[in-house]
Amino acid sequence: MKIGILTSGGDCPGINATIRGVSKAAINCYGMEVVGIHGGFQGLLDIDTEPLTSMSVSGLLTSGGTILGTSREKPFKKKATDEEKNERKRLITDNVKKMGLDAIVCIGGNGTQKSAYKLSKIGLNIVSIPKTIDNDVWGTDQTFGFDTAVGIATEAIDRLHSTASSHRRVMVIEVMGHKAGWIALHSGIAGGGDIILLPELDYDINTISRVIMDRFKKGHTHTIVVVAEGIKTMNGRKAGEFVAQQIEFETGIETRQTVLGYVQRGGSPSTYDRILATRMGAHAADLIARKDFGKMVCLRGDKISSISLEDVNDRLKLVTEDNDLVVQGRRIGICFGK
Ligand code: F6P
Repeated sequence: MKIGILTSGGDCPGINATIRGVSKAAINCYGMEVVGIHGGFQGLLDIDTEPLTSMSVSGLLTSGGTILGTSREKPFKKKATDEEKNERKRLITDNVKKMGLDAIVCIGGNGTQKSAYKLSKIGLNIVSIPKTIDNDVWGTDQTFGFDTAVGIATEAIDRLHSTASSHRRVMVIEVMGHKAGWIALHSGIAGGGDIILLPELDYDINTISRVIMDRFKKGHTHTIVVVAEGIKTMNGRKAGEFVAQQIEFETGIETRQTVLGYVQRGGSPSTYDRILATRMGAHAADLIARKDFGKMVCLRGDKISSISLEDVNDRLKLVTEDNDLVVQGRRIGICFGK
């Protein structure tokens, strides 16, 4: 068999480890031929590929980003007319034939899973692997990239404590996560955040201000507020800046904000992500060998398994009120906004 691998959407630590995992298992265990498709789905449209061999994927385990490049190009755009969609369908099907691909592995987040499902519905043999720092892909307990991002965000929060304390300030830190609060929740708990704001849970600035005033009255030197980028703000303002301004206005306490940004996505994957990415990659090769297509590789408990792309399609995994971290966080006095 000849298989293609593409990486699509925002990059994250662990993608190269999973490209290596798929390729090595496909070559070593099944004698497959592997090609890397450049720039996500764009590479399928342009037939832009490179051969991947055991040698060429060697040493990828620890490197950040994706050696194949990525883009947010979708195979079927929402706004496209039926005629345009049919044209794309023809082009992609022809290109896959020209490249001689028996199956394609699509590595990506929610958008990629959706596109992978569409490709599988037009008859292509697709296996997908979930990756994102946001951890919001439905159907898997965890995505690789998340653990690394949480580690980086936690270290940043750790470092804010001392400067906040020295200046007796409120420190607001905005972390990524798109519409989900997983990074804020995990790094907030691990970094000893006092207030954690998530897109999934409503917040009230008056309550937050009261909590901050009470803390200072009790003798606390500073307060750390961890804010997910996806929380609701007024007039579409940026989460961290908005919350910091509101707090300073309401409490009169000097407040600073830090936006962590893309460092959460860059660099080498954590140990956990290297292992998860490798296991998921090798499992994708097994699914292809079994011709078990239309599936997304997933983690359930400590087992790597798979779920149908149809089940994953158009769903998001979000934080809920009954999440144990929220429940236990509340019990130890963390404010989640209300
Ligand atoms: O999905 C990963 C992510 O880093 C989100 O946390 C963030 O909202 C988004 O990508 C940023 O996207 P872009 O790379 O297009 O700026």
